[in-house]
Amino acid sequence: VKPLKVALLGCGVVGTEVARALTTNAADFAARVGAPLELIGIAVRRLGRERDLDVDPALFTTDAEDLVTRADIVVEVIGGIEPARSLMLRAMEHGAGVVTANKALLAADGPTLYEAAARHGVDLYYEASVAGAIPLLRPIRESLAGDQIERVLGIVNGTTNYMLDKMDSTGQSFADALEQAQALGYAEADPTADVDGFDAAAKAAILASLAFHTRVSLDDVHREGISEVSSADVLAAQQQGCVIKLLSICERSRTADGAEAVSVRVHPAMLPLDHQLASVREAFNAVFVEATGAGQLMFYGPGAGGQPTASAVLGDVVAVARHRRAGGRGPGEYAYAELPVLPMADT
Ligand code: HSE
Repeated sequence: VKPLKVALLGCGVVGTEVARALTTNAADFAARVGAPLELIGIAVRRLGRERDLDVDPALFTTDAEDLVTRADIVVEVIGGIEPARSLMLRAMEHGAGVVTANKALLAADGPTLYEAAARHGVDLYYEASVAGAIPLLRPIRESLAGDQIERVLGIVNGTTNYMLDKMDSTGQSFADALEQAQALGYAEADPTADVDGFDAAAKAAILASLAFHTRVSLDDVHREGISEVSSADVLAAQQQGCVIKLLSICERSRTADGAEAVSVRVHPAMLPLDHQLASVREAFNAVFVEATGAGQLMFYGPGAGGQPTASAVLGDVVAVARHRRAGGRGPGEYAYAELPVLPMADT
């Protein structure tokens, strides 16, 4: 059977784990897909850097533009807007399915990518972009497609949850907790994306878009991070039997004249200790999805870090590879509702 060629863009915390799994577990992947997955290249910014990865050094290249034209499946784990967007568009133009963990790009300019995927008849999968290892987007997009989702609410940023947890449980300072979260590979390259709520807001935009079949971008999300949360605030919450958590909340709503709308917001909140989200520790994430028929569902698990995020990426790689083997593509975007997003004051 002809192997499916996989190109990896980026070799940071997540990319390293993806490359390691694809090479170490090659036989398993081949069995699950029904064809070998051949890692044909890893695009990096600089060659010759010491990496904790036992692969053929010839796989590394700085020519990502060429690499994406030779692949069946392109895995993007560079992050950020450019060059990630151009490379993904180029990959799709050349007929490759794309797997990405890039929440910032999807929230800023998702429609450009969705439209390219539809135009070229290829898959665009991004389970790893929200809530790390937790299967969440596919359940919302597929398993709940016959239901009406009313609300998605939870903790979707591992770094800030880790920081708030350490400040609460060990009395650590904000700066020390952030340093630890970075050392553990949870934080974004620029950790202000975590601390100021941009990462959680991007994820909320993606969740709201899928849950409500509409298009919500980062700019539509009311955003407040945790940079103003001090050790004194954490202590004050403790004294009231509460913890502070950074919540993302996406809800169906109504405009003043009664038309259907959505509201999407990210902000710190005080939760009583007996609230289920209060017990979400370290870099774990937890998300409630409330649907008319299903009732309340809870999704819980590791929300950040190399291996958990790679697990979601690899699941998408297998899905896209299976679709290609079957000669088709999987479910794509179903944005048809065009609901207005209410400003915070109206929610
Ligand atoms: N920086 C992100 C977080 C990584 O802490 O949740 C996972 O998306």
